[in-house]
Amino acid sequence: MGKIKRIGVLTGGGDCPGLNAVIRAVVKTGLIEHGFEAVGILDGYDGLVRNNMIELGYENVSGILTQGGTILGTSNTAHPFQYVPPGGDASKAEDRSDDCLKNFQNAGLDVLFCIGGDGTLSIARQLGDIGMPVVGVPKTIDNDLYGTDVTFGFDTAVQIVAEALDRLHTTAMSHHRVIILETMGRYAGWLALVGGMAGGGDVILIPEIEYDLKRFSLIVVSEGVKRPDGGLVVRERVESSHDQLRLGGIGAHLAHIIQHATRLESRAVVLGHVQRGGTPTAYDRVLATRFGHEAVVQAVAGNYGVMVGLRGTGIVPVPLTEIADRQRLVDPGCEQVRAARSVGTCFGDA
Ligand code: F6P
Repeated sequence: MGKIKRIGVLTGGGDCPGLNAVIRAVVKTGLIEHGFEAVGILDGYDGLVRNNMIELGYENVSGILTQGGTILGTSNTAHPFQYVPPGGDASKAEDRSDDCLKNFQNAGLDVLFCIGGDGTLSIARQLGDIGMPVVGVPKTIDNDLYGTDVTFGFDTAVQIVAEALDRLHTTAMSHHRVIILETMGRYAGWLALVGGMAGGGDVILIPEIEYDLKRFSLIVVSEGVKRPDGGLVVRERVESSHDQLRLGGIGAHLAHIIQHATRLESRAVVLGHVQRGGTPTAYDRVLATRFGHEAVVQAVAGNYGVMVGLRGTGIVPVPLTEIADRQRLVDPGCEQVRAARSVGTCFGDA
């Protein structure tokens, strides 16, 4: 592998606070420390399939540290190996990975930095298998990626959940109502657990701990919690997506059951995409910058096919093969759950 001259960067999956901070760190580290040229691939893997790229100079990445979203755009459906154009028919998916490789080579790129969650990183691994040098950076507000203690974006989303709970407390108290706050998080309860602890929720329901309905006032429920009769509450199915189920609605379902059972007025609030928006916290800005810098360090060392992850206090390379098809769920016996229980938080279990 020759010396790197030109680098590509893309953001895939759902948007997340801190994406721009990583783009900035990758591009600036490349420019300042190594004199690399940088190219941004637009709308995630869609831009790689359709050769939709822009040159990224210093001026393009200045002033974006604090911006939410991603200046490159993103897609949580574009998949080079099962490609369906935006709005297309999912049953007509095509393998367009050859086009990706061609576009990558024609753009003169030496390495591709893929910033995303499990879907984006598993595609990065597949692209690595067909000969594209890739380095991944772990993103998600869900904090459910295997191989890193924390993903960037999580801290910001926790802050938003905590602030929402602070505000909901007043209505719950004043009206003697039960209020249920439904968080995102997919099949992992991290966001509900840590946000709920920070916001002093009386009850935190997460997919990893089975629950029984009792009498509560402020309840934090993760969207991946199952109904009392066992099923997930699914809002929508997106056929062309890596993870087809879009969860949502468990809060309203529980509010209905609780109101009926207790005769206490019950309301559900769904935080939704508010959790992914806006400026990243200071913690996420710094973590994103460290991740972006270390991703370039790994590429310069010729260490491809890895993701950078936080282990303890340091950033380390983790092989993409190690994280494939694995999720980092909450261990019901973990220290955070024990700490929450010790201050009287209920998880709905015995
Ligand atoms: O993975 C991030 C996430 O926000 C999940 O918490 C949530 O289940 C999902 O994405 C929502 O996806 P969409 O933006 O497609 O509705």
